[in-house]
Amino acid sequence: MARQAHLGFVVLVPNCHISKPYFSKSSIFLFCITILTIAGTSASTSAGNETDRLSLLAFKSKIVHDPQGVMDSWNDSLHFCDWRGVTCGRKHRRVTALDLSSSGLIGSLSSHIGNLSFLRDVSLQNNTLDGEIPREIGRLFRLEYLHLANNSLVGEIPAANLSRCTRLTFLNLGSNNFVGKIPVEFESLKNLRGLGLHFNGLTGSDFERLTV
Ligand SMILES: *[C@@H]1O[C@H](CO)[C@@H](O)[C@H](O)[C@H]1NC(C)=O
Ligand SMILES: *[C@@H]1O[C@H](CO)[C@@H](O)[C@H](O)[C@H]1NC(C)=O
Ligand SMILES: *[C@@H]1O[C@H](CO)[C@@H](O)[C@H](O)[C@H]1NC(C)=O
Ligand SMILES: *[C@@H]1O[C@H](CO)[C@@H](O)[C@H](O)[C@H]1NC(C)=O
Ligand SMILES: *[C@@H]1O[C@H](CO)[C@@H](O)[C@H](O)[C@H]1NC(C)=O
Ligand SMILES: *[C@@H]1O[C@H](CO)[C@@H](O)[C@H](O)[C@H]1NC(C)=O
Repeated sequence: MARQAHLGFVVLVPNCHISKPYFSKSSIFLFCITILTIAGTSASTSAGNETDRLSLLAFKSKIVHDPQGVMDSWNDSLHFCDWRGVTCGRKHRRVTALDLSSSGLIGSLSSHIGNLSFLRDVSLQNNTLDGEIPREIGRLFRLEYLHLANNSLVGEIPAANLSRCTRLTFLNLGSNNFVGKIPVEFESLKNLRGLGLHFNGLTGSDFERLTV
């Protein structure tokens, strides 16, 4: 039994390849438990989830008007995974989706959104968000769905940054006030199924065929 348990740990923890057994089996066992404990702590520690909480609070701080009170639940009496519009992964309790679409929100996008490193889906369409898309969004390498249509976003689309979100499948930036050229960089987004850039001040039409 004990031997099976040792083997189980060695198989489960890839870092525990001790090819030359200088240690007794039981000390290898303890060593592996230690690694497992350290790895477990750092994976779900306050470091990660505290970053998510602070990033969401930074996001909220840039919303200057919330007429429907959709962010009223974003307070310390609730875990951020229970805040309205926030979805977390079941296992690690990290933010995977942010949906505050059609909420009448007025404000801008915090660059801290780029620290929500588990984020996959962002639905903020149909609000009155102004300012630019923070370039930090390019750090969200898990991002698959980004819907920012019908806001008041300005400036150039940070295409070089967005094109680093290689898992993007849906990107809708339509009905904003973006200027500049339609980004050729998006051609590198091989998973892209829907791209909306309509009703902006963009020039060049190479990618019109992709418009949703
Ligand atoms: C962060 O994770 C730690 C350890 O898992 C947990 O005790 C703490 O309640 C979590 N905090 C938040 C804000 O999720
Ligand atoms: C925090 O949010 C909850 C849920 O919306 C609400 O019931 C509570 O009154 C809020 N607390 C404060 C201090 O605003
Ligand atoms: C957009 O949001 C407004 C409220 O701000 C709402 O009345 C309207 O129905 C929304 N449009 C869509 C298409 O959801
Ligand atoms: C999060 O992002 C902001 C701005 O992009 C940055 O200043 C900050 O240091 C980042 N890290 C954490 C842990 O909040
Ligand atoms: C945005 O992309 C440019 C060009 O790749 C890069 O130099 C810059 O560091 C990126 N900005 C952020 C905040 O990631
Ligand atoms: C766009 O947003 C405005 C308000 O900001 C709203 O009146 C309008 O219905 C929205 N359009 C669509 C297509 O959702």
